[in-house]
Amino acid sequence: MQKPYKQRSIGDHELSPETLMMGYAYSPSLSEGSLKPPVFHTSTFVFQSAEEGKAFFELAYGLREKEEAEEIGLIYSRINNPNLEVLEDRLAVWDKAEQSLVFSSGMAAISTSLWAYLRPGDVLIHSEPVYGGSEYLVHNILPDFGIHRCCFNAEEGVAGMDVAAEQARKYISENGGRVGAIFVETPANPTNGLVDLSHARMISDSFEKDGHRPPVMVDNTFLGPLFQTPLEHGADLSITSLTKYVGGHSDLIAGSCSGSAEKIAPVQVMRTILGTMADPQTGWMLMRSLETLKLRMEASTEGAKKVAAFLRDHDKVDAVWFLDDLPGDHSDRVIFERQCKSAGSTFSFEVKGGEAEAFRVLNALKIIKLAVSLGGTETLASHPAAMTHSDVPPAERDRLGIKDSLIRISVGVENPADLIADLAQALESI
Ligand SMILES: Cc1ncc(COP(=O)(O)O)c(C=O)c1O
Repeated sequence: MQKPYKQRSIGDHELSPETLMMGYAYSPSLSEGSLKPPVFHTSTFVFQSAEEGKAFFELAYGLREKEEAEEIGLIYSRINNPNLEVLEDRLAVWDKAEQSLVFSSGMAAISTSLWAYLRPGDVLIHSEPVYGGSEYLVHNILPDFGIHRCCFNAEEGVAGMDVAAEQARKYISENGGRVGAIFVETPANPTNGLVDLSHARMISDSFEKDGHRPPVMVDNTFLGPLFQTPLEHGADLSITSLTKYVGGHSDLIAGSCSGSAEKIAPVQVMRTILGTMADPQTGWMLMRSLETLKLRMEASTEGAKKVAAFLRDHDKVDAVWFLDDLPGDHSDRVIFERQCKSAGSTFSFEVKGGEAEAFRVLNALKIIKLAVSLGGTETLASHPAAMTHSDVPPAERDRLGIKDSLIRISVGVENPADLIADLAQALESI
């Protein structure tokens, strides 16, 4: 029987995610009538009996199948904790997933998921560009563990993905091994290049062998969870840096991974053993942030549309990479319309000139803060080539379009007219 606090409909009426964020998966009766869940600052949980403890561990360690209506009990906060469980149930609603897991950072979610699926000798197919931390992981760390990578530039569209798949096939025919996973970031940081997820899934299907199909893992940070639902487009795991829009106030670091129970299971084991879960306090803060997520993401997107329109018409700006403005004949246009529900509020623009001019604009900003990160209530601007992507070799940066003249902006919820006034005066410094 469905628990009343886990019901997602009233009769035939299905409740919206934004409504469910206020109370789903928590009953005040579990905590002395407290409207909000308290923060469970505890490392461990007391069992009613030794038999109960044994039963909880059997499920947590997958030693036997769950009996009908049986749930994993609370054991130890590296394995489970009420604050994380409520949060995970609510994130799963947004991600349209059977299960979600919360991590101590976006990078913890990405690396734990990759460790769960990759084995020495495997090939990793991945898109480029990706966030600088992911870039470092796939370029500099995974090869030391025997992972060979075949990558494609998101800008090259499905043709580029097909070339990477062919390279993987050739590598496997010469060296053995298998494709362990397909990892893509879409929209890509900082170019907003898009990856066709249904095509990534087709490639994954083509590598299915002996019951193993490489999972398609998607970094959904730029649009998730509101404006893009990768699991509906063939992806197996949807990963988000909760530090950004979900946390939304630039005051915490966390990440998540969502998918089917089957695909999440190895990631959960890896999280338990590596200890990459989030802490209860962070879980509580994220749960609170989820209550206003839709309002914040919609407001910042409306602001971004106005800021992008201002920049597009400015004579000191060479290009604006805002997804709404993709030309009709650009190959990303059709992906955008099929896969994304909105352009979001993070995008990059090129100023006339190079690093010096971009730095002059950044240094002249008065309201907009010069900081990396994105998705907060406040507007942030940064210089990807000198900051988040500075360890990508210059030739690679050129190839990927991460130019010295590029500024990335994450529009917050301030009055857009004030942001435009700030940008107008800062662009005067060129
Ligand atoms: C697209 C993307 N993925 C992942 C991350 C890493 O997230 P975290 O800083 O929470 O580890 C970032 C951080 O900027 C990001 O922009």
